[in-house]
Amino acid sequence: MRKTARIILGATAAVLLAGGAGAITPAAAAGHVPTSAECNNKAHPPTDPAVIGGCIVMNRKLGNCIACHAIAGASLPGNVGPRLVNIKRRFPDRAKLRAQIWDATVRSPRTSMPPFGRNKILTGKQINEVVDFLETI
Ligand code: HEC
Repeated sequence: MRKTARIILGATAAVLLAGGAGAITPAAAAGHVPTSAECNNKAHPPTDPAVIGGCIVMNRKLGNCIACHAIAGASLPGNVGPRLVNIKRRFPDRAKLRAQIWDATVRSPRTSMPPFGRNKILTGKQINEVVDFLETI
């Protein structure tokens, strides 16, 4: 009896895992950060700009946004900056959201947020991808 239960549980886990692997892009579209496995998949690198942007946000050597911001699904975030939620409602104007990432000091001169565009930490293309991702959360 016990053994059967374990087998059934094992099978369920396998189905869940398989489902998870198939649902990689929708996961990011639903407002969650992509996994590192997804970001570092050399055979099938992400092609959806919003997923690429999510990877930039999570990458410690690129955006590293979670050093300061909590984002749903990100572990061990910092709390120097506000939690990033409902971004599309907070920033209906995409240009204003992009400007915040490009150079946050324009809006708040004493901010601790690095001016990612002005200081060339990220390229213009990368910032567009980050914005694409932010609009999903
Ligand atoms: C060193 C800390 C730090 C880092 C790193 C950082 N931010 Fe921020 N961020 C802040 C702070 C502080 C604020 C509060 C408003 C301000 O000071 O501009 C902020 C504000 C924001 C806002 C506006 C939020 C709102 O609701 O008004 C967005 C969007 C944002 N950050 C996105 C990002 C993204 C995307 C990244 C990574 C590419 C990032 N931040 C990296 C500190 C940081």
